[in-house]
Amino acid sequence: MSKDNWSSDYIKNAAFVPKLASIVVDDFLQPKADDTILDVGCGDGKLTAELAKIVKYVHGLDSSPNLLKIAHEQHGLDVTVQDAQTLTAAELTYPTGQSHYDKVFSNAALHWILTTNKPTQGSTHAEKEQIRQNFFNEVYKTLRADGGVFAAEFGGLGNVSEIHAAFVATLIKYGLTPAEAHAASPWYYPHEDVVRGYLEHAGFTVEKIERVYRSTLLPHGDDGMLQWLDLFGFAFVEAVQKKNPSVTKDAILNDVLEILRGVNYDPNSNQWFAGYVRLRFRAIKA
Ligand code: BEZ
Repeated sequence: MSKDNWSSDYIKNAAFVPKLASIVVDDFLQPKADDTILDVGCGDGKLTAELAKIVKYVHGLDSSPNLLKIAHEQHGLDVTVQDAQTLTAAELTYPTGQSHYDKVFSNAALHWILTTNKPTQGSTHAEKEQIRQNFFNEVYKTLRADGGVFAAEFGGLGNVSEIHAAFVATLIKYGLTPAEAHAASPWYYPHEDVVRGYLEHAGFTVEKIERVYRSTLLPHGDDGMLQWLDLFGFAFVEAVQKKNPSVTKDAILNDVLEILRGVNYDPNSNQWFAGYVRLRFRAIKA
């Protein structure tokens, strides 16, 4: 079983993530009382539980057993441990008496799910594209034939670019080549035209798609960026330590932090900001 990098720290430090989801829920998902919804990458289930209060049924999928334990035990949600990159419509759990969902939803997860930087995720560009296309194809099959909706928000091209570049620069400092440093990134941040292509190729009609910059205040004041780096930067830390096990996580994160201090920190308010770029879409299975 692969290592679960998510822990209860997620709830403490990433609570701002579901709070920022009102646009994708209200304007893109548009939940209705009789909807059945599959939430892909539901994490600890905070947002999923809000949906469960207003729709007929929600089922959560996530690759992290730690987060799903919370989703199930604290929020009473039905969940399945599943790496959504290998989602297979035929093997999903469906609402009682149904062989489809009305809607598939995903918030702040597809940039993790659609990454293809691991050696097991294809060696050629074509293989990597096929892995992503398969995901969209399987979501399509999961949905109701007449008007099923796929609505999602995730990181688009340029997302947290300062943080991303600071990690890459730090990895190069610790002896990785630029190619190795880039390959350590666990994130996929595409342009909206690329995502439109995957959706249309799967058979969807794209009703709307957008990519917008959203400067985001990180919680925890002065400590905000370090907590963010610690929570989400584990893949970069692992890449350095694989090459040089004596380098500590603290040393790596502090190097990244010092690069970012002159870019993402507001000394007037003692607060950190991250340059989030949100890619959102609403696509219909006609
Ligand atoms: C995001 O929601 O864009 C995001 C969250 C954590 C790490 C990277 C990106």
